[in-house]
Amino acid sequence: MIAAFLAFAWRSAVEPIEPPAASGFDRSLIRHGAELAALGDCSACHTAREGRVFAGGRPIGTPFGTIYSTNITPDPSTGIGRWSQVAFTRAMREGVDRNGRHLYPAFPYDHFTLISDADIKALYAYLMTRQPIQAPAHANELPFPLNVRPLLAGWKLLFFREGRYRADSGHDSTWNRGAYLAAGLAHCGACHTPRNRLGAEKDNRLFGGGDSENWHAYAINTESQSPVPWDASALQFYLRNGWHALHGVARGPMAPVVENLAGVPETDLVAIAAYVVSVMGNPTPARLQRAAGLTATASRNTAGSSPQSALANDVGATIYAAACASCHESGQPLPFGGINLALSIDVSGEEPTNLIHVVLDGLPATGEVQIPIMPGFASTLSDRQLLALLTYLRARFAGKPLWNDVGKSIGDAR
Ligand code: HEC
Ligand code: HEC
Ligand code: HEC
Repeated sequence: MIAAFLAFAWRSAVEPIEPPAASGFDRSLIRHGAELAALGDCSACHTAREGRVFAGGRPIGTPFGTIYSTNITPDPSTGIGRWSQVAFTRAMREGVDRNGRHLYPAFPYDHFTLISDADIKALYAYLMTRQPIQAPAHANELPFPLNVRPLLAGWKLLFFREGRYRADSGHDSTWNRGAYLAAGLAHCGACHTPRNRLGAEKDNRLFGGGDSENWHAYAINTESQSPVPWDASALQFYLRNGWHALHGVARGPMAPVVENLAGVPETDLVAIAAYVVSVMGNPTPARLQRAAGLTATASRNTAGSSPQSALANDVGATIYAAACASCHESGQPLPFGGINLALSIDVSGEEPTNLIHVVLDGLPATGEVQIPIMPGFASTLSDRQLLALLTYLRARFAGKPLWNDVGKSIGDAR
């Protein structure tokens, strides 16, 4: 039985090659590969904090343990310098490394399997012409038996379908381009689709909201809780700029996604937006009506401020008025002014995780890019005060009851 499984799980090695000369690759193919690598977020996962680009070593937290990304620079000893295009293609599409070892699906090959031959070739040309960097792999931190790679063959048998994207003739070419990118290379579902207990995305819950590195990736299907329903032009703008006046800013693990998308052709963003908005479906008239009201108030950027006296005996309201309103009702334009919190998915969304993160940690300044800045309140607010604030924000700006288990979410974030 075990022998039969191991025989099934066994994959052969692909012969090593002499590292190919960079000059052997076509320039325009390399340029195209750079755009594809941006769409695929390769650098976000394959670069450690303060580390060299693509040299790996970034810890990727999963519910099962920590998996480290590998070095995908063309270094012959520690990277993929001796990988032929055949070996690279197999890794991308089947999750098997050059030596024949199964790879963990923390590497989203369950999405990359959809990528076309032409795009794989361009990605290969791009990676093989990067600066080789010597950086040995970091050992994963997984408990037994999850650290036994052959067992991944069983996971694949249950959950992994190998195969290219097949166009849906019921939709136009823009939609199909968007579906090809969003489901494949851009792997939006890796974060936005909930996973089952064995870490596989649930087939029947596409884009139903998932978790990524202790952030929540909100539902972007018919379950979207966005106060103003997304339309294709707003989504395209958000993916291009990382913020939208009626939706706020992209933070947490969504921030590197949009940073990478900055270098992607506009037509690809148009396509992704068209596809994702179609998955969201048409909003109900009730949602549209509420949104129209919000849009009207938001353009004045006053959340219909209540007089200070009415706030006097509500701790949450007092904290909001003292610590938040000066920025969030200032009327300063986005992305540098704070959004009217009635528009914020963090307040209306299905999980409180991101709201708690933003309030505790703020939005820190970064050296290189101009980004919105908000102070963190971790040392200012006690857990009880934070709870009072969240209760107030949720009731006033979303008109919804407080989330279940908020106390636990606060504890986890602390
Ligand atoms: C969500 C994080 C993530 C993203 C995005 C990602 N990777 Fe990876 N990748 C990983 C992890 C983690 C591994 C190691 C898996 C393991 O050790 O089983 C890996 C492994 C690989 C490997 C196998 C290397 C080896 O030495 O075994 C290749 C090739 C690879 N990735 C290429 C890419 C390319 C190309 C892209 C962009 C199109 C990309 N990856 C995007 C996380 C990611
Ligand atoms: C690495 C994980 C990750 C990937 C990949 C990812 N997202 Fe996100 N996304 C998030 C997180 C986390 C948030 C919440 C960010 C926040 O609170 O600002 C988010 C927020 C969003 C939002 C805003 C939701 C709302 O209602 O306001 C949209 C729209 C979105 N993502 C679309 C996409 C699309 C389209 C893709 C693929 C091109 C994608 N995301 C890929 C993690 C991810
Ligand atoms: C110094 C100004 C400032 C203060 C004070 C401040 N914020 Fe912010 N906040 C911002 C800016 C700027 C942003 C980024 C733009 C945006 O998304 O609203 C932001 C973003 C947010 C977001 C994300 C909104 C979204 O969906 O994009 C939330 C939620 C938030 N702030 C809540 C609060 C709360 C609650 C307080 C009080 C405890 C507070 N802020 C205090 C400036 C401020």
